[in-house]
Amino acid sequence: MKEIYLDNAATSYPKAPGVAETVSHFLSSIGCNVNRGAYTKAYQTEEVIYETRELLCRLFRFDKPENVVFTKNVTESMNVIIKGLLKSGDHVIVSSMEHNAVMRPLNNLRARNLEVDILECNKEGALSPDQVESLPSLIQANTKAVFMTAASNVCGTMLPLKEIGHFCRMNNIFFIVDSAQTAGFTEMDMNWLNVDALAFTGHKGLLGPQGIGGFLVNKRIEPSIEPLIEGGTGSFSELETQPACMPDKFEAGTLNIPGIFGLNAALKYLFKVGIDKIREQELHLLNLFMTRILEIPSAQLIGKSDLQDRTSIISINFPKHDNAEVSYLLYKEHGIMTRSGLHCAPSGHKTLGTFPHGTVRFSFSHFNTEEEVLKVIDCIWRSLNTL
Ligand SMILES: Cc1ncc(COP(=O)(O)O)c(C=O)c1O
Repeated sequence: MKEIYLDNAATSYPKAPGVAETVSHFLSSIGCNVNRGAYTKAYQTEEVIYETRELLCRLFRFDKPENVVFTKNVTESMNVIIKGLLKSGDHVIVSSMEHNAVMRPLNNLRARNLEVDILECNKEGALSPDQVESLPSLIQANTKAVFMTAASNVCGTMLPLKEIGHFCRMNNIFFIVDSAQTAGFTEMDMNWLNVDALAFTGHKGLLGPQGIGGFLVNKRIEPSIEPLIEGGTGSFSELETQPACMPDKFEAGTLNIPGIFGLNAALKYLFKVGIDKIREQELHLLNLFMTRILEIPSAQLIGKSDLQDRTSIISINFPKHDNAEVSYLLYKEHGIMTRSGLHCAPSGHKTLGTFPHGTVRFSFSHFNTEEEVLKVIDCIWRSLNTL
């Protein structure tokens, strides 16, 4: 049975051409550390790492490669930012569509006197202009930051970063964005959006390997974030305290260099193909899927039913069935890989009215084909008839 992978929101597969070969080349032919040894390979490796920071600057229209910090993923980046920035007595605002990568560390700090307010999204997972206008009513004297995902990982709805970013800047509040579901799908301009810190993960839309991600911080926010992890950086070895210079301040310990090499290859692929082309193909597949799924009476589309301001993630509820059973049957009988349940975003599901039963999530990549989409629709019909 030929398998069809539709779980790209969890992690993309296949990865960009050249990623596996580049990681393998690093491990088999280079393999050294950086900032430690004074030999050619170490310098060449440093160049690739710096070039990767520059590629990320190009991706997010940012102008300070030294303020691009590597971590494992968005989860680690958000933990560093949240725990390094927020103090007892601070107040923050989040959207109701946030992933647990943001919700859990924030809720942990609630026990230590952090105040958290939630800006409720509507039934489509969106923030209408009215809801954006309600933001000022949530602001307090101690409001330090707004955290917001660029797009929901449950239903693909994008949030109005431009409006929120403008509001934050006008009110001298930090704006911190989770780009897990939009990086590689849409262009983002940190300066234009007034984003102070942006967290990214390499293994989803960026088409790189797992275990490499990071964050970009501007000059406004960087001095306010204390490092969460301290240790050897290869630099300033005479110091027994963490260096304050960037990116060393946040990059203690040996980096995931094979991962950075893989991400470097993935970013070059994205720029070669063009993010616009990738988005066009994904939305084309989504449109086909959406049109056909609406013909199935027992399938309920969750979130937006148009292509405006959304990614290619789509969630379906099968009210007459157990969503987990539908997802399982699609895999067992037809080799179709989806993800059912709450997708690490219980708050988002509460907003969408799908808590606690969740949905079946289908998430496309530009490597998927029309033929696959049509086969998936056919298999959904057949699976529902056997349940
Ligand atoms: C919106 C969003 N934020 C954060 C994450 C966490 O990403 P990672 O597991 O790479 O840290 C995910 C992953 O599903 C996500 O969809």
